[in-house]
Amino acid sequence: MKILVIGSGGREHALAWRLGRDPDASAVLAAPGNPGMAALGPCFHLNLSRPDEAVMLARREGIDLTVVGPEAALDRGIADAFEAAGLALLGPSRLAARLECSKVFAKAFMARHGIPTARYVACDEPEAAIDALSGDLGFPVVVKADGLAAGKGVVIAADRAEAETAIRAAMVGGQFGEAGSRVVLEECLTGPEVSFFALCDGRRAVPIGSAQDHKRIFDGDQGPNTGGMGAFAPSPLVTGDLSGRVMRDVVEPVLAGMAADGTPYRGFLYVSLMLTSDGPKVIEFNVRFGDPEAQVVLPLIDGPLVSRLHAAATGALDPGDAIRLDGCAVGVVLASAGYPASPEVGRAIGGVAEAEAMPGTLVFHAGTRLGDGGLLTAGGRVLTVVGRGATFADARRRAYDAAAAIRFEGMQFRRDIGVKALEAGNEVTR
Ligand code: AMP
Ligand code: GLY
Repeated sequence: MKILVIGSGGREHALAWRLGRDPDASAVLAAPGNPGMAALGPCFHLNLSRPDEAVMLARREGIDLTVVGPEAALDRGIADAFEAAGLALLGPSRLAARLECSKVFAKAFMARHGIPTARYVACDEPEAAIDALSGDLGFPVVVKADGLAAGKGVVIAADRAEAETAIRAAMVGGQFGEAGSRVVLEECLTGPEVSFFALCDGRRAVPIGSAQDHKRIFDGDQGPNTGGMGAFAPSPLVTGDLSGRVMRDVVEPVLAGMAADGTPYRGFLYVSLMLTSDGPKVIEFNVRFGDPEAQVVLPLIDGPLVSRLHAAATGALDPGDAIRLDGCAVGVVLASAGYPASPEVGRAIGGVAEAEAMPGTLVFHAGTRLGDGGLLTAGGRVLTVVGRGATFADARRRAYDAAAAIRFEGMQFRRDIGVKALEAGNEVTR
């Protein structure tokens, strides 16, 4: 099967790498791709907001299965365009992608279908939002822009003054543009956060692993939020029992509800969960794989994957065909100086080949480009180095040994990725 991966980050490099190792893959192409993906197969220019261009590319190259990384392409209707063209693509339609792309939609959907999540109020006007602060949500309160805000649209406001500032910035100041014209206010939940992944075919789903992300820039979960500074998989907190509960209480109701609403859900479903004292609750849905979670989950997936993704894309998933993760993985993001506010780019990168040659390690590209003198930094998150092992201790050591082999000016990374997994217990049993 000829596969096309849409996107250009670490998640897409991990998808291309994993799918390329599959016996059912004859070739893995990418659009737009990155220098890491270019080493696996041809990369093509693509404007992600032009679904028609992607259809033309898939037709011209004789693609059997297209797998989409970024939500922006789904929000632009890439799945609808492929469906209309009769081409197999793994990813939800534009209407189904509202589960991620509109928080107001996602909250109303969860309320309608009894899916456990934080209590909330959705507001169209700043005055209504400010009035709602006097309701029973309490403080701290979470203020979220409705639309896609590149992970920056969430403020946990300690008190009324902070909440009012956040509401005004989004709804009056236009901080997030159109995405902030509506907001959701939520009760603030507490507990460990885990990422849970399911593969869905419109009617059925199978779990496809769990992970824990590290969103803050500095060790000990300090400093501003980022796109993710590292992850480990699987999450020791997601036991077999919990996985069954999340499938029953969250994923299956999502599939039934989306199908009943006439917008069946097909693709990866990423459920961000908080494990509260009152049970697991949904923080948000994403309609794609996580980044950097994909870089740690995909290398652990045992057995065929291409045939399963194709089955999901064509409505033919076998729910009895459980996907297993083998071993542990820790992924450390190497970021540019100045990230997340204003990353410096254009610095020479050394040591990638040495890191890749180390046993049990993988290096996935995100913000890199090839210049005249070799590989250069081209974004905030530059590379994800992944260590695999039988235990989290092994996986961590390998990831950090590989990180130590790589250098570029101003390189920053967290030193504590995976420490939580060690604390939770070295062995993952399920
Ligand atoms: P999101 O963009 O929705 O993933 O939110 C970003 C981060 O804000 C999440 O990873 C959580 O850590 C935090 N967050 C979002 N909603 C809540 C909530 N209701 N209670 C506590 N923390 C939250
Ligand atoms: N790891 C967070 C995300 O992919 O949104």
